[in-house]
Amino acid sequence: MALFIGLMSGTSIDAVDAVLVSFTPHFKQISSYSHPIPDSIKQRIFSLAEGHEESIDALAELDRDLGELFAEACLALMEHSGQAVGNISAIGSHGQTIRHRPEQSYTLQIGDSSRISERTGITTVADFRRRDVAAGGQGAPLVPAFHQGVFHSDSEDRVVINIGGMANLTGLPKNSAAHLSGFDTGPGNVLMDGWIKRHRGCAYDKGGLWAQQGQINTRLLEQLLSEPFFKQSPPKSTGRELFHQGWLDNHLQQLPSVAAEDVQATLTELTAISIAEAVKSLSLDNPALYLCGGGAYNPYLNQRIQAQLPALTVKTTAALGIEPDWVEAAAFAWLASMTLTGQPGNIASATGARGPRVLGAIYPA
Ligand SMILES: Nc1ncnc2c1ncn2[C@@H]1O[C@H](COP(=O)(O)OP(=O)(O)O)[C@@H](O)[C@H]1O
Ligand SMILES: [Mg+2]
Repeated sequence: MALFIGLMSGTSIDAVDAVLVSFTPHFKQISSYSHPIPDSIKQRIFSLAEGHEESIDALAELDRDLGELFAEACLALMEHSGQAVGNISAIGSHGQTIRHRPEQSYTLQIGDSSRISERTGITTVADFRRRDVAAGGQGAPLVPAFHQGVFHSDSEDRVVINIGGMANLTGLPKNSAAHLSGFDTGPGNVLMDGWIKRHRGCAYDKGGLWAQQGQINTRLLEQLLSEPFFKQSPPKSTGRELFHQGWLDNHLQQLPSVAAEDVQATLTELTAISIAEAVKSLSLDNPALYLCGGGAYNPYLNQRIQAQLPALTVKTTAALGIEPDWVEAAAFAWLASMTLTGQPGNIASATGARGPRVLGAIYPA
């Protein structure tokens, strides 16, 4: 049985998700492990990603240290699962996004993959997004083909909604000859995380409890929804370059003061409404919604999504056999297997690329 490791560290900078999976004959998750990111590294990622730090040395040093951290995550996963190096075909490493500006035709994920191969002795496939961008695409989302492979149903239309730092969805029509769609809907947790960190010193709003104590401020909500990204038609993708605390502060400055918990409630509603509007824009017949990513563990957010779409059922991908935390990492394991077998990993209708492309670069064992 060919085993693959998928590695994901997203815009939330919460942890490195490492998952061990196989695809033959069907997708199977064998083991998973969440590797902590030391605070000093979190801070350096944040400084580079939000443009407070611009030095080339800082970038190169972080690339090196993330390569080391990703290798450690793989080694810990292997130890945890009792698997030897020889059993693992490849690692698919997403890398840490430092910049994502598809409108200027570039995106940059770092985390030295030579170092991952060297430290683990396993072939590593990485840098998946840039080939799609070079072919005129957004480089994102890259998960729709994997979602189609593992979550498609012949009997119901489905939408898989990944709520990480940013949120993205994949529309899966039951008629598989129909158009497969996928795009970023806007912020997922990133603004809520930043706001509670500033006001309460917590990394995130556990269970959405703080947001639930606040009132949704409709003026603020309308103000935030005036962001042109929400009206843009797909293909589209986004990141911290657009949705960051400065963006929120600019909007807040234009209004009378809003209580901190009301801002949190409004940010939660912003995520819920932008997701719901994106679902409505898909031409699907009463689709069932399946949430994944960390936002799937926020019951208040889920309740708000359900309130926006009362006719639809909202579940998590656990109902389809994959726990919400591991879907994205598993997708990058799958993308590595596609690259190594010479098969395209992107869906051109989702990313806007000129066509299907074999993605990424291979760093041999
Ligand atoms: N129990 C929870 N309650 C509320 N939010 C949660 C919970 N667990 C995770 N999250 C949110 O999910 C985020 C991590 O999601 P993740 O899918 O890992 O995003 P990314 O891909 O950006 O790393 C956290 O920063 C937090 O906002
Ligand atoms: Mg994460």
